[in-house]
Amino acid sequence: MAVPGTAAPGHARLLAFALVLAVLRGAVCESNHTRFAMVSRGGNAPSWRPGSGAGKGSARVPAPSPPLDTCGCGPAPAPAPSEFLNDKLRPLYPVIQAFKTTITCDPLGVTASWVGPKLCDSFFGGNMYRGFYCEHPPGLANDNSTLTVASIDFNGYGLCAPSIAGFVDAFPDLALFHANSNNLSGEVPDLTRLPYFYELDLSNNNFSGPFPNTVVPLGGLLFLDLRFNRFVGTVPAPIFDLSVVALFLNNNGFYGRIPDNFGSTTAEYLVVANNQFTGPIPRSIYNTSANLSEVLFLNNQLSGCLPYEIGLVEGLTVFDAGGNEITGPIPLSLGCLGSVEELNLAGNQLYGHIPDVLCMLAKTGKLQNLSLSDNYFHSVGHHCLELVRRRVLDVRLNCILNFPNQRPALECARFYADPPQHCPFVPHIPCDLPGFRPPAAATLSAAADGGGGN
Ligand SMILES: *[C@@H]1O[C@H](CO)[C@@H](O)[C@H](O)[C@H]1NC(C)=O
Ligand SMILES: *[C@@H]1O[C@H](CO)[C@@H](O)[C@H](O)[C@H]1NC(C)=O
Ligand SMILES: *[C@@H]1O[C@H](CO)[C@@H](O)[C@H](O)[C@H]1NC(C)=O
Ligand SMILES: *[C@@H]1O[C@H](CO)[C@@H](O)[C@H](O)[C@H]1NC(C)=O
Ligand SMILES: *[C@@H]1O[C@H](CO)[C@@H](O)[C@H](O)[C@H]1NC(C)=O
Ligand SMILES: *[C@@H]1O[C@H](CO)[C@@H](O)[C@H](O)[C@H]1NC(C)=O
Ligand SMILES: *[C@@H]1O[C@H](CO)[C@@H](O)[C@H](O)[C@H]1NC(C)=O
Repeated sequence: MAVPGTAAPGHARLLAFALVLAVLRGAVCESNHTRFAMVSRGGNAPSWRPGSGAGKGSARVPAPSPPLDTCGCGPAPAPAPSEFLNDKLRPLYPVIQAFKTTITCDPLGVTASWVGPKLCDSFFGGNMYRGFYCEHPPGLANDNSTLTVASIDFNGYGLCAPSIAGFVDAFPDLALFHANSNNLSGEVPDLTRLPYFYELDLSNNNFSGPFPNTVVPLGGLLFLDLRFNRFVGTVPAPIFDLSVVALFLNNNGFYGRIPDNFGSTTAEYLVVANNQFTGPIPRSIYNTSANLSEVLFLNNQLSGCLPYEIGLVEGLTVFDAGGNEITGPIPLSLGCLGSVEELNLAGNQLYGHIPDVLCMLAKTGKLQNLSLSDNYFHSVGHHCLELVRRRVLDVRLNCILNFPNQRPALECARFYADPPQHCPFVPHIPCDLPGFRPPAAATLSAAADGGGGN
């Protein structure tokens, strides 16, 4: 159901992204007396990973302090070539050591374990080279001669480094790079030469600049998480043509329209919340197939009419477009979202009637939370009344006569005298609903019924 750290329940993590101030002692090799303060952003989601583990040993037995090299830091003598398990690991040693010298903070002291020849120590249950996990590449012998670094998981390490270029891209057999909650900066290197690569989690770091175009050609990518960084600018359309399962772009400075090919995405989880996107929710959303389950547009500056096509995305469980400038009536097609559990449209400029077909989803479907507060709705269907009472439906701050906590009458009158945009009311219901006409006959006659929603 919900990906940890995205939506249900209540998007708590997304919204309440706690800033935990922690004064930590750094273990930096170049300046080993340095004591410095850093703000650690706690509370961000751990990374989601599909079945294939983030490597052996990620059972996360809290590792005892790793053995220090002789001086506690400083360049240790390089191991002799014969000390490495195989020829694949030998060239990775200088890559890791070079990256280590660029690290300017390491609050947990993990880099102290990056010494010696045992790059795959975690595979054998050891504590050297924390963050590096080895596997046998697909189709090769299951012995020490083929073992190679298949995943790097720095989640929560708090490492600071000015760049990951020349590091991540130098592991030819790498499948996953997870670096949630570090302080990595710079550019995202070209990873197209890594044939097994499929998971990139750069969430909650210090990456900046435009959308990292180097991820666009990664045809094998299944999981892309760029949330909580400082990326700015438009999002390239081809990103929605990737065969990803999850795409997290939230909490950056992305702006511009959401590309029209949005609907080509194969993602089940798609989060663009907390950016500055403008323009409408693309009508191509109908084309997302049955795969799209959770989609979060919340807290952008999206405008335009709420598209009828949302009602065609049958598999939706969470739809959240709260905190935007979307207008128009609620299309009756939303009554077809039989799997939807959370629907948030609060904080927009929606108006008209809250249709019964939508409220009935609490009975006939799975709807548990319908947030429509802070809009300009003027009336509710009778099935909706019970939901208000049960606090499933929140209609505070609307224009509903004789309801508590509504907008001042004058504000409502002004809004209805000059609505932000004319949106068509589409009465068509593109599914079979008990008590409603089948789609074929519905279009004309429903319009003739006055489209009251019942
Ligand atoms: C319902 O959804 C709204 C908006 O997403 C959220 O603020 C609220 O906490 C949710 N209520 C419950 C009971 O989960
Ligand atoms: C690290 O500390 C040791 C012992 O306190 C000291 O001898 C050494 O010079 C220090 N190294 C650096 C790079 O500051
Ligand atoms: C990154 O560093 C900045 C500045 O020192 C700090 O405010 C922030 O909390 C750090 N982030 C993480 C995830 O450690
Ligand atoms: C593989 O390497 C590990 C760790 O160095 C070692 O303990 C083990 O004996 C090796 N296995 C074989 C079959 O050589
Ligand atoms: C974050 O990135 C900026 C450059 O965009 C850099 O100046 C700053 O030092 C970085 N912060 C940390 C903690 O690495
Ligand atoms: C619908 O999605 C497919 C890929 O799934 C894409 O090839 C096609 O162009 C999309 N059509 C529209 C109208 O977006
Ligand atoms: C749904 O996702 C699966 C696996 O991610 C993929 O194989 C399939 O093509 C997707 N379906 C569509 C219609 O895109």
